[in-house]
Amino acid sequence: MVAKPDCIRVGVLGSGKGSNMVALAEAATLPDATFKVVTVISDTAGAGILDRARERGIPAHYINPGQFRTKLDAGAEARFIEVLREAKVDYVALAGFMRILKDGLLDAFPKRVINIHPSLLPSFPGLESWKQALDHGVKVTGCTVHFVDAGVDTGKIISQKVVEVLDNDTPASLHERIQVAERTIYPQVMNALGRGL
Ligand code: GRF
Repeated sequence: MVAKPDCIRVGVLGSGKGSNMVALAEAATLPDATFKVVTVISDTAGAGILDRARERGIPAHYINPGQFRTKLDAGAEARFIEVLREAKVDYVALAGFMRILKDGLLDAFPKRVINIHPSLLPSFPGLESWKQALDHGVKVTGCTVHFVDAGVDTGKIISQKVVEVLDNDTPASLHERIQVAERTIYPQVMNALGRGL
């Protein structure tokens, strides 16, 4: 895929089904888009995100994450960096990537790694944030796009979108509405970054 010269180049990392990657890839095809998705990498063999990328002609790579459960081992991290550099990415967008990134990758793309998280951070970092929101009885939650640092969901916030919690919400129904919001906000942020904001 050849990016328009005035577009920023984005590499997407994900472990799951890839709905956010699809939202980014589709938004990137619109005439006024300021970014292109140029590569997709997953730590999970057979993840839906890889198929969704290939269907759209985006190069998709599975990289074995190595021996650890929650992070990449040194060899895997080096391979991730190599593939991202080969694709000449300007930004790395995490979209359901289920491992904590360490300094090696973050230093390779300083202030250029962003993530989408399904809560209004700093509330409910970590896993299953929509369940945490229901358990706490909050009346609004939402999603957050933020820069990634070495902590868990702690980096500088770029943008947030509010989702109302309904009286009859289940974890599944709330998660679904949060994901609809995610698919709006993530492309908006990428376009803003592409405009240099
Ligand atoms: C999203 O809900 C995102 O907030 C979280 O993981 C999920 C990924 O879903 N970090 P998908 O793979 O983009 O469909």
